[in-house]
Amino acid sequence: LKRKYLEGVAAAGDEAALEDLRLAALGKKGEISLKMRELGQMTPEQRQTTGAALNLLKDEIDAALRGKKAALADAALDERLRAEWLDVTLPGRPRRMGTIHPVSQVTEEVTAIFADMGFAVAEGPQIESDWFNFDALNIPPEHPARQEHDTFFMARAEGDDRPPHVLRTHTSPVQIRAMAAQGAPIRVIAPGRVYRMDMDQTHTPMFHQVEGLAIDRDISMANLKWVLEEFCRTYFEVPEVELRFRASHFPFTEPSAEVDIRCSWEGGQLKIGQGDSWMEILGSGMVHPKVLSAAGVDPAEWQGFAFGMGIDRIAMLKYGIPDLRAFFESDLRWLRHYGFSA
Ligand code: PHE
Repeated sequence: LKRKYLEGVAAAGDEAALEDLRLAALGKKGEISLKMRELGQMTPEQRQTTGAALNLLKDEIDAALRGKKAALADAALDERLRAEWLDVTLPGRPRRMGTIHPVSQVTEEVTAIFADMGFAVAEGPQIESDWFNFDALNIPPEHPARQEHDTFFMARAEGDDRPPHVLRTHTSPVQIRAMAAQGAPIRVIAPGRVYRMDMDQTHTPMFHQVEGLAIDRDISMANLKWVLEEFCRTYFEVPEVELRFRASHFPFTEPSAEVDIRCSWEGGQLKIGQGDSWMEILGSGMVHPKVLSAAGVDPAEWQGFAFGMGIDRIAMLKYGIPDLRAFFESDLRWLRHYGFSA
């Protein structure tokens, strides 16, 4: 009987098998229990020896059951530890971080440089009324400049014959909004998206400009020249720059100038600040009296300059990016290459 149970316990593979064995031996109707019950019919001498032997056997089986149960639990734990083993000293897998888009980076650089010169940031909507985008800027309905803007027009409901809103073709309408809201004197820049129907290596239908506006009692072209030179030195990180003011025409400035920066191409590499080439970077001029009036600023008392610069363009120049279209294609390889880490 002893060997039968002890071998059974040793061979048991799980707790259920052990429980079956326990019931078979020590349960109410177990073999050992039944034998215990027979003790009553024995003589006192027999009872003493058999009883002692049965008790010993019972204890032995009980101990074997407990021992095996603990061993099974240990084995189960060992198995779990082996299966769920984890090396916490392994280096982590690197995570790809996003990057700052060159346009965002340059917008921040530009904003910071002009902030140091006392310019605040102004904003306006990208869907603009015909009046803010054109009329208020001295571009009346039949003005030829309207054709040059390759404008995207918003749809109007049938029967509504007001001029359609437009996707703003430049950031200049923000001049009007800022002056109308704050009056003069004022010193603001307005970076943002603008839209024109145009697409080639250096043009995309959406691009970015930053507008500059400074109005006070005696602001002149000389102030414009200094502000732009100071900006270019800081932005292009060169000790000296040379700017060329070419007489030009914009309906909203008088006089008007397009501004070129001296540069050179050495082995396909653009160098700003020295050389025999000129690169156009912006349009500018003294704000037209009609524009001041349209914004509620008295031209008899106030005057100043405005300029508009292509952000994508100066990003291409500073960081040597050849194709403007790639800016807006969301190609992750391009973004990782030209993007800035946060
Ligand atoms: N709005 C002009 C453009 O988009 C640029 C400009 C702005 C020129 C301010 C003069 C003054 O081309």
